[in-house]
Amino acid sequence: MKTCTKIFLASVAVAFLAVKWNAPSFHAESLRGARVLVTGASTGIGEQMAYHYAHFGAQIIITARRGNVLQQVAEKCLSLGAQKAYYIAADMASESDPDRVVEFALDKLGGLDYLVLNHIGPSPFSMWDGDVEHTKWLMKANFFSYIQMAWKALPSLEQSQGSLVIVSSLLGKMPSPFVAPYTSTKFALNGFFGALQHELAMKNSNVSISICTLGLIDTESAMEKVRGVTSVPAYPATDAAKNIIITGATRQSELFYPWFTQFLILIKDWFPSTTSYIIQNSYNYNP
Ligand SMILES: NC(=O)c1ccc[n+]([C@@H]2O[C@H](COP(=O)([O-])OP(=O)(O)OC[C@H]3O[C@@H](n4cnc5c(N)ncnc54)[C@H](OP(=O)(O)O)[C@@H]3O)[C@@H](O)[C@H]2O)c1
Ligand SMILES: *[C@@H]1O[C@H](CO)[C@@H](O)[C@H](O)[C@H]1NC(C)=O
Repeated sequence: MKTCTKIFLASVAVAFLAVKWNAPSFHAESLRGARVLVTGASTGIGEQMAYHYAHFGAQIIITARRGNVLQQVAEKCLSLGAQKAYYIAADMASESDPDRVVEFALDKLGGLDYLVLNHIGPSPFSMWDGDVEHTKWLMKANFFSYIQMAWKALPSLEQSQGSLVIVSSLLGKMPSPFVAPYTSTKFALNGFFGALQHELAMKNSNVSISICTLGLIDTESAMEKVRGVTSVPAYPATDAAKNIIITGATRQSELFYPWFTQFLILIKDWFPSTTSYIIQNSYNYNP
């Protein structure tokens, strides 16, 4: 290995460790009795977050479209130690459901300490075929509902000195093939909530915003799409979920999980053609 490469890698490692050591410490007790709303919690990372919050003794509201599945998740939350667990079936692509869900949570719990926005509508894993209607629908489900719910919950979060947690993706910072509509919704989230982070800080707001950048996570829906298509490693949903919760509880502005997603984002602008080569060759694609 060349000396300059060694120096480069060593400085990246030092910078990384410095950031990790400065991370505020997490106290599980801080979540006992916390009033939490988690979206997209019928399956995947959202379901795992519900179980972790339950284990920490939180009061939980979960939502997604399938009420029958949510009911089972809520029951498991109670058995794991949640102080309260309610569910509400809702479609986040509709105009009124995002507000209705926040109202339900405020009504049931009397306020909110954490709003965890995590849901995504289903989207194909394929080359862009010109389906503008699907992309508009996905924007409603994955983006507009987020800003609507955040705005609706903000006064309560100000009162409780609460936190807004946004589950985003590496694909919200690095465009990737086969997911153009999905990538667009995640870029929109990063742009919007990045701007809101500045505005809240400038207003000395009580509310913290955490934007979570995830790499590939082993949920059913993700694995179904990439199985046999890519050899990118997938990380466990339960671990991703725990890291998101800790990031919110410690009021950190960003999470990168797994850690190397941060590294990929850093180097992509320094070596654009290498990055493009790697991205385009990490999929089995035969035209
Ligand atoms: N898995 C990954 O590899 C990965 C990578 C990076 C980032 N992320 C992010 O992590 C988050 C969770 O991903 P995941 O893999 O856990 O997703 P998932 O398993 O597909 O779960 C999506 C959740 O959203 C709900 N949902 C779907 N359409 C909805 C709608 N129209 N209205 C309301 N709820 C709806 C689903 O429940 P119903 O079907 O019951 O509605 C489900 O609970 C997402 O924000 C995703 O972008 C995931
Ligand atoms: C911030 O929190 C404090 C303490 O709870 C509260 O008195 C104050 O009104 C809050 N600020 C806003 C803008 O709501």
